[in-house]
Amino acid sequence: MPSTSSSHKIDVRKERSGLILLKFGGSVITFKEKPLSPNMECINHLSRIIASIDKPLIIVHGGGSFGHYWSVKYEMHTKPARYDLKGVSVVHESMIALNELLVKGLIESGAKPYSVMPSVFMHGLEPIVKRIEELEAIAVGGAVPVTFGDIVHVAEQNYSILSGDALMTILAEALLPSKVIFLVNVDGLYGDVGTQNIIREINYETYKSATFSKTTLDVTGGMNRKIEEGLKIAASGIDVVLVNGLKPQRVLNAINGCDFEGTLIRHEERRG
Ligand code: IPE
Repeated sequence: MPSTSSSHKIDVRKERSGLILLKFGGSVITFKEKPLSPNMECINHLSRIIASIDKPLIIVHGGGSFGHYWSVKYEMHTKPARYDLKGVSVVHESMIALNELLVKGLIESGAKPYSVMPSVFMHGLEPIVKRIEELEAIAVGGAVPVTFGDIVHVAEQNYSILSGDALMTILAEALLPSKVIFLVNVDGLYGDVGTQNIIREINYETYKSATFSKTTLDVTGGMNRKIEEGLKIAASGIDVVLVNGLKPQRVLNAINGCDFEGTLIRHEERRG
């Protein structure tokens, strides 16, 4: 069974370019249960943290009560299909609106965000590696690329929701960041249903063999989806952490590589 104490050190043996890939979960920067409601207090505290960080950073954010709200209304999913084009427009616009709120908060806090929509570095659901490498160059140069889960055109009027979690895997596999952090609205991955214990550390084996509490599903799969993406990233040799984004000190500790509270998805040694 995975251990359940909730504080540990991030493994820093694998420091590479020093790039940090950070996901702001939609449940952190919006009130997920209330349509189209940003959590400005949280956006502002995260913005202040980002402004204080002097490391190359790429931010991906989710949809929360913006993109998810409309995706549910228009029955749009992560499978390419000919969705209602009004829904396509509205979902995309809502993600741009949320991105703008976040980017404005970042600028006001003194950070240097640079907004990039996924269609800039994705061809449908396929990554354009050269463009992704440009994001890293922007981050190394001191600005902070900020991208987001979105609705993307795949082919012949087929569109698909592309989640921020899936983007995390795409960016991590292309750039091999030194650290990958998912900010969520809970303290980490909970143990068996009925317990309040946070799983301190998991890997592929322990995740598959244990039963974890089920979380509410949204169009892109909720917590389970995050873990699945986290495991894929860990398979590239990168540690992934899940941290409560509503608790600023934990976010700062996770970014700085200090003791942090949350769940570590332990990297696997890279093959080949
Ligand atoms: C959702 O992205 C994007 C859209 C619904 C358009 P995510 O699936 O990453 O969003 P959160 O973080 O779970 O809210």
